[in-house]
Amino acid sequence: MPLSETGPIAAAAAEAACGVGAFNVIQLEHAQAIVAGAEAAGAPVILQISENAVRYHGALGPIGAATLAVARAARVPVAVHLDHATSVELVGQAVELGFTSVMFDASALSYGENVRATAEVVRRCHAAGVWVEAELGEVGGKDGVHAPGVRTDPAEAAAFVAAAGVDALAVAVGTSHAMPTRDAALDFELIGRLRRAVPVPLVLHGSSGVADGDLTAAVEAGMTKVNIATHLNRVFSTAVRRALADDARLVDTRRYLGPARAAVAAEVTRLLGVLKATAPAP
Ligand code: G3H
Ligand code: ZN
Repeated sequence: MPLSETGPIAAAAAEAACGVGAFNVIQLEHAQAIVAGAEAAGAPVILQISENAVRYHGALGPIGAATLAVARAARVPVAVHLDHATSVELVGQAVELGFTSVMFDASALSYGENVRATAEVVRRCHAAGVWVEAELGEVGGKDGVHAPGVRTDPAEAAAFVAAAGVDALAVAVGTSHAMPTRDAALDFELIGRLRRAVPVPLVLHGSSGVADGDLTAAVEAGMTKVNIATHLNRVFSTAVRRALADDARLVDTRRYLGPARAAVAAEVTRLLGVLKATAPAP
């Protein structure tokens, strides 16, 4: 199946009140696992590569090209997204490589600067047919917009979307990035108000800290794109640890990365069910 556009996947899910899983790729095995998990679920999925992951690899090109190749070979709709980009140059590289969407994260800037910087990225990306997610933040927050106490104001969110022209908005409703436990307290009433105020799909970041039941409830309340990274790394690393502990003489990397990849695939299938991510292919 050819690469799928992010916009129609998100629009179809929002229309059907379903979630879309957006899972982070660090190694090739993540991309393979996420696509295998989505195929088993029969659901569309978004593979995303963060600016931090690009920093780890030293460049976007090799991991980006590999991820795009995995997406193009999938039997379900798969989009490829640049996550948490603060560099306009990196956004340009993703567009050039063929990514179908980017998240431009200017949330550390003031509201006015965020609007200006995001609108410029939107102008360039839309000229190339690329969907743009942005984030509203507040200056100085340790974890930015996703610190547990931070909340997105619905009226400000609506004004931001109109001014910057973005296609999706990451909102702060109680999650925080990289939580070690799944006990974030989501503000479901706020999600409902944001859904009514904001005309584009809403994005939940830091979703590893959210329990299964609350993920489903968040989608029912109005979230569409649900970003999960840390939780899958936990599943991956647990499987690697187990395989290495079971055999102290194990050296073939396939013998521990393979079980980890299979464990992540199974968890992706399960999570896509939790997210009700069964929207028909766009
Ligand atoms: O952008 C990526 C996500 O927000 C992932 O957050 O690692 O807490 O799941 P997480
Ligand atoms: Zn995030």
